[in-house]
Amino acid sequence: MKTLVVENLQKTYVSAKSSTEAIRNLTFEVDDGEFLAIVGPSGCGKTTLLKCLSGLLAPTSGSAVLDGEPIKEPPEKLALVFQEYTRSLMPWLTVKSNVILPLKSRRTPRAERERIAQQALKAVELDAFADHHPWQLSGGMQQRVAIARAIAYQPRILLMDEPFASVDAQTRIDLEDLLLEVQKEFGITVVFVTHDIEEAIYLADRVAVLSARPTHIREIVEIDLPKPRDQVATKSSQRYADLRTYVTEMIHSS
Ligand SMILES: Nc1ncnc2c1ncn2[C@@H]1O[C@H](COP(=O)(O)OP(=O)(O)O)[C@@H](O)[C@H]1O
Ligand SMILES: [Mg+2]
Repeated sequence: MKTLVVENLQKTYVSAKSSTEAIRNLTFEVDDGEFLAIVGPSGCGKTTLLKCLSGLLAPTSGSAVLDGEPIKEPPEKLALVFQEYTRSLMPWLTVKSNVILPLKSRRTPRAERERIAQQALKAVELDAFADHHPWQLSGGMQQRVAIARAIAYQPRILLMDEPFASVDAQTRIDLEDLLLEVQKEFGITVVFVTHDIEEAIYLADRVAVLSARPTHIREIVEIDLPKPRDQVATKSSQRYADLRTYVTEMIHSS
């Protein structure tokens, strides 16, 4: 069974004064353990899509189904990571407490919570910072805490909305590779939204290319680059260059 099935999803924002058609029509599926990247121009409706997938926003029509269950409210087995790490962590809690917080709603026993949090922090190489507070860490480190929290939660699916857009270039490269490692280690299904074509191709198994607003899928491109990916070897390969050209031309012709 497919982990996520999105069918004829449409979203129009309606207010007293105006209506904005964000999503014209989206249909796609995500396999168990797959990494799907979604790229599209700024303002095309990517965040709107993730809000619909996470149950924060009701689609105007169509459906999103997770493990056979229609998404109507935020599903328990789903985790979200946003671009704004400064707003997603609780400043008054330590790093470890931030990671543990979502586990409390699951009633995971205390000792088990500690163990899972420690393991997740180790996976993002922050175990030495467990007792620090978010404001004592750099932006990239804070985003690693957000990733650790998502992993610790052991979601069926992880949705990420331009998660590396506000960190510097080197940190971004590190976070990309970290994400690929933990995705493999924990077998997580990921839907990763970005406006960065290179990042999408480097990370994903498939890249869904969205049109400008009101958005629809131009094409879902299979990324047949060998794994594990490598920042130098992958990005210097001819196949990578060809895929980048292909996707770039598609986006610019919309
Ligand atoms: N709450 C809202 N009310 C009305 N229009 C909105 C709202 N949120 C987003 N939009 C509009 O919907 C379109 C898609 O926005 P968004 O999903 O944020 O795009 P992206 O994430 O691809 O940049 C934009 O034109 C945006 O202005
Ligand atoms: Mg957005």
